[in-house]
Amino acid sequence: MMSSKPTINYGLEGIYVDESSISKVDGQNGKLWYRGYSIEDLAERSNFEEVSYLLIYGKLPTQKEYDEFVKKLKERREIEPEIRNIIKKMAPVAHPMDVIRTATSMLVMYDNDPNNRATEATIDKVITLIAKVSTIAAATGRFRAKKSYIHPDNSLGHSENFLYMLTGKKPTKFESKLIDLMFILHAEHSTNASTFSVLVTASTLADVYAATTSGIGTLKGPLHGGADEAALSMMNAIGNPDNTEKYIEEALEGKQRIMGFGHRVYKTYDPRAKLVRSYLEESLTKEPSDEVRRLLQIALRAEKLMIDKLGSTKGIWPNIDFFAGPLYRVMGIEGQMFTPIFVASRMAGWGSHIVEYWHNNKLVRPLEYYSGSVDLKYTPIEAR
Ligand code: ACO
Repeated sequence: MMSSKPTINYGLEGIYVDESSISKVDGQNGKLWYRGYSIEDLAERSNFEEVSYLLIYGKLPTQKEYDEFVKKLKERREIEPEIRNIIKKMAPVAHPMDVIRTATSMLVMYDNDPNNRATEATIDKVITLIAKVSTIAAATGRFRAKKSYIHPDNSLGHSENFLYMLTGKKPTKFESKLIDLMFILHAEHSTNASTFSVLVTASTLADVYAATTSGIGTLKGPLHGGADEAALSMMNAIGNPDNTEKYIEEALEGKQRIMGFGHRVYKTYDPRAKLVRSYLEESLTKEPSDEVRRLLQIALRAEKLMIDKLGSTKGIWPNIDFFAGPLYRVMGIEGQMFTPIFVASRMAGWGSHIVEYWHNNKLVRPLEYYSGSVDLKYTPIEAR
């Protein structure tokens, strides 16, 4: 007999699945805190290494703690030749997110105790992941471009070393600031689709490599992390800034989503998007390329139109992925590498959530309302 249909919260919208002290997203007021510190303060005054420490340990490090943490990250940046070889094989034929998912999964081979879930052991694995996934992402970009692998440079900070390994050029001071900003802003964002996916896998007591690999698969989609690449593709399709309004109007009439706008939690301007936008505007003072100028013009016209049309009516505002593309182009990074950078920095947030979740682990197993038949009579294949 069919039970009465329960209320179903599609997409888990509005459902609390856990309690956490890692980050708070205030979607009504457009605010974000990591462990109580505002994203604006961290973006201006901290760096990715310190933010990672803060997320993992729940407090800002002393100088000694910071130095030890940075030392560990630097010592672990290099990736094994077998991983480099797989990246080299895959990079010319697969999307970078597929390459990174595979290479991150391979890291389990070099851990002689992958199932040790004690807090200190888990933190140690998370530090390894933060250190190595940036190198995996940079190597993917190098091999995609048919260039040779660049070894980490330990005189550089974490994110600027990533940029150096990707481009082969030592970043300017401004480029170092930009890439570190993007690493900080992408490091953590509460229980979104990919973090939830990481926790679902971790809840089965699978290892941290399996859990973070799940997260990479989930982040790839254009409704989530993949929106940064999709938003840049849209700006390129618009081409000329004067086409912006016509393009967007037609897309909306055709019920298409405008990538880089809208958010399940933010019903106002995403504070991370505001920061990316302000640094993008600052880049105008640094003689940017014609391409960047054009992209910025398109982005600003699209932003105005979307806010006028859908801001107050539907709560659809720019999210972090909208201005990210043009800012990455300031650094010369190609579109398919945007989401991999998201992965490299989000390792800190995903790892922190695994550490926290395992303090009080509970298998994730929601329910599904069955609307099919029961007790059908089986007919042998020859009688069908
Ligand atoms: N462009 C046009 N319309 C939109 C957009 C958009 N980007 N986003 C939402 N809408 C509209 C929907 O069509 C829907 O309209 P309707 O009520 O008339 O049918 C309404 O707003 C609500 O949309 P939902 O999809 O129900 O809202 P949800 O909370 O599920 O969506 C999401 C959130 C998936 C992020 C959505 O806004 C979207 O698709 N945005 C584009 C992709 C994107 O930028 N994703 C990145 C998010 S940030 C991140 O993950 C890092």
